[in-house]
Amino acid sequence: MLYVGIDLGTSAVKLLLMDETGKIHKIVSKEYELYFPHPGWSEQKPEDWYEQSMAGLKELISECDKSQVAGISFGGQMHGLVILDKDDNVIRPAILWNDGRTTEECDYLNDVIGKDKLSQYTANISFTGFTAPKILWVKNKEPENFARIEKIMLPKDYLAYKLSGVHCTDVSDASGMLLFDVKNRCWSKEMMEICDVKESQLAKIFESYEAVGNIKPEIAAELGLSENVKIVAGAGDNAAAAVGTGTVGDGRCNISLGTSGTIFISSKTFGVDSNNALHSFAHADGSYHLMGCMLSAASCNKWWMEDIIGTQDFAGEQKAIDKLGENHVFFLPYLMGERSPLNDPYARGTFTGITMDTTRADMTQAVLEGVAFALRDSFEVAKSLGIKIDRTKICGGGAKSPLWKKMIANILGIKVDVIESEEGPGYGGAMLAAVACGEFVSVEEAAEKLVKVVDTVEPDPELTAKYEQRYQQFKQIYPALKPIFKVIG
Ligand code: XUL
Repeated sequence: MLYVGIDLGTSAVKLLLMDETGKIHKIVSKEYELYFPHPGWSEQKPEDWYEQSMAGLKELISECDKSQVAGISFGGQMHGLVILDKDDNVIRPAILWNDGRTTEECDYLNDVIGKDKLSQYTANISFTGFTAPKILWVKNKEPENFARIEKIMLPKDYLAYKLSGVHCTDVSDASGMLLFDVKNRCWSKEMMEICDVKESQLAKIFESYEAVGNIKPEIAAELGLSENVKIVAGAGDNAAAAVGTGTVGDGRCNISLGTSGTIFISSKTFGVDSNNALHSFAHADGSYHLMGCMLSAASCNKWWMEDIIGTQDFAGEQKAIDKLGENHVFFLPYLMGERSPLNDPYARGTFTGITMDTTRADMTQAVLEGVAFALRDSFEVAKSLGIKIDRTKICGGGAKSPLWKKMIANILGIKVDVIESEEGPGYGGAMLAAVACGEFVSVEEAAEKLVKVVDTVEPDPELTAKYEQRYQQFKQIYPALKPIFKVIG
């Protein structure tokens, strides 16, 4: 049988067709616009997601035996607020995971309601990108839109709704709304009250590997598919990527270098970081995970390459980098503020330590290293909780770079396992569809059978020691600049 995984990303939707042996038959990618209507704001049109996903689906299945397609599932950008009115019209553009407009609402939630209560109700505190503060923002700033809300949903759930007619979500994505009681895997009554939300406006909750229903007959006809095709809940992109890289079960780690950068640690048991610097979310395999999320990762490199130095030749630029561990230039990668572990929407990107002999290669190197150092910040929080990690998987666009993988192995001092396919969320989505269709008894079984490690990047003790010194210097830059960031706005 064939399974479709739809990775609804921030720069594009990537669709993948996989068979029951895990073989990828085809990958299709379709881009859409990302809008920054004010500095620090970030929006997309759900209609664009749907239109491009349908175009992508048609292309994806154009050459296969369509009767073999059994299930469709998702990995989706998390936290985005999608609101529909009583006629299912999208009320306003979706407010995305990397949007920083909700500082006032976050202050209200964290300081007036209180972090302790939020953590007790949801296992998390408020970050500007989370969904609940966005609902409060719409209530405060766009009351006429707030009054029209019939359904609240997350980005990938909008696609599932269009394809199945079921207003659904899954436990991993719901975890990032700050409306979800993560430990008990249900909506939090207290948070609904705080956010003035009724349960009828929220989606029905599923485990990520459960079917929410069948494809709508009219969509099946449009695509030439059977009406028995299952639409499967899927997961937030990080949990889906974790499935796609085999990061399931206890104490496994995955790093995703996409628009965002995340470090994801799977756990069989529920746990909360006492400072809430790492998110405590439900996992797509039925268990839990901790996660640190930086808002700009591969996007820093893309910005530097394409917008600033004006090249598409990422590999070519990286060839000129030959002084690993010896760069005097540092880059703070906070181009959209920062989430984990700083929780500071005012943080900004900077180059520090530039001199007359600084080269273009030094600056490119600093960008790549800055992202790796910032990931190490979240890694340090995990270590401080007693979590022992000596190896990680890696996925996302940035994982294509051998140099970046080497930097990460040496800056974090851990082994980096490279898997056959870097298509984390799309592959994980297809795996979840296969589990829901009965191809595997569990997500863990699917991961054991389908995910293959093809290479390991080992840290080199000499380079790790050099990078340790650099990391200690990097760590001092943000605290020194923090007061200035708030002033410059
Ligand atoms: C995770 C997060 C990002 C988005 C990116 O908390 O906000 O990783 O899911 O798509």
